[in-house]
Amino acid sequence: MIIAIDGPAASGKGTLGRRLAAHYGYRHLDTGLLYRAVAKAVSDAGGRAEDREAAIACARKFDPAWLSHPDLGKDGIGNMASIVSAVPEVREALLNFQRDFARQPPGAVLDGRDIGTVICPSAEVKIFVTAAPEERARRRTLELRQRGEPAQEAEVLADILRRDERDRSRAVGPLMQAPDAQLLDTTCLDIEAALAAAVRIVNSRRAR
Ligand code: C5P
Repeated sequence: MIIAIDGPAASGKGTLGRRLAAHYGYRHLDTGLLYRAVAKAVSDAGGRAEDREAAIACARKFDPAWLSHPDLGKDGIGNMASIVSAVPEVREALLNFQRDFARQPPGAVLDGRDIGTVICPSAEVKIFVTAAPEERARRRTLELRQRGEPAQEAEVLADILRRDERDRSRAVGPLMQAPDAQLLDTTCLDIEAALAAAVRIVNSRRAR
């Protein structure tokens, strides 16, 4: 079974994906890490996120070993990732890795922006996770501070809104809810309540 989770920045989809995968004994891929890894490769090579050719070259050289780098969670890398991810050739270069991952037994949970629409359109379960931008900014600020990064909530909110807009308006693989995805709004849910709601969605799809 493939479980596709999509949603905007800091909606909690990564934590939810990881917990859901552990619950069912499936493998988990946070696909945002792929774009972050490409952004970091561009930056390490001295390039800028806006340099399309550099982004395409790095995406074509993508190595799964890059995914475990501790700096990928940094905010600056997330911003660069949202710029390189708008390049169609970058998305194309990362497509097969994601589809191959999804196909491996015993099952997989992938989270990102276009999993239910582009990467795995025939996933058995699709969940679109969202939360109010202010709540997402609050969570993201806490997370950054826990990692020792200084973060101001107002700036984090502005950043999240900018990133959402960029992700929604790009021509290829934009952030959008697939018509057959179930909406899960986690604004008023903690992670345990969100997990319970997601498990109910998965179980009801599995029962059909
Ligand atoms: O989810 P995360 O914030 O780590 O993703 C970083 C950036 O990578 C996003 O802002 C988005 O632009 C891009 N991304 C994407 N498609 C995905 C996952 C992430 O375009 N499936």
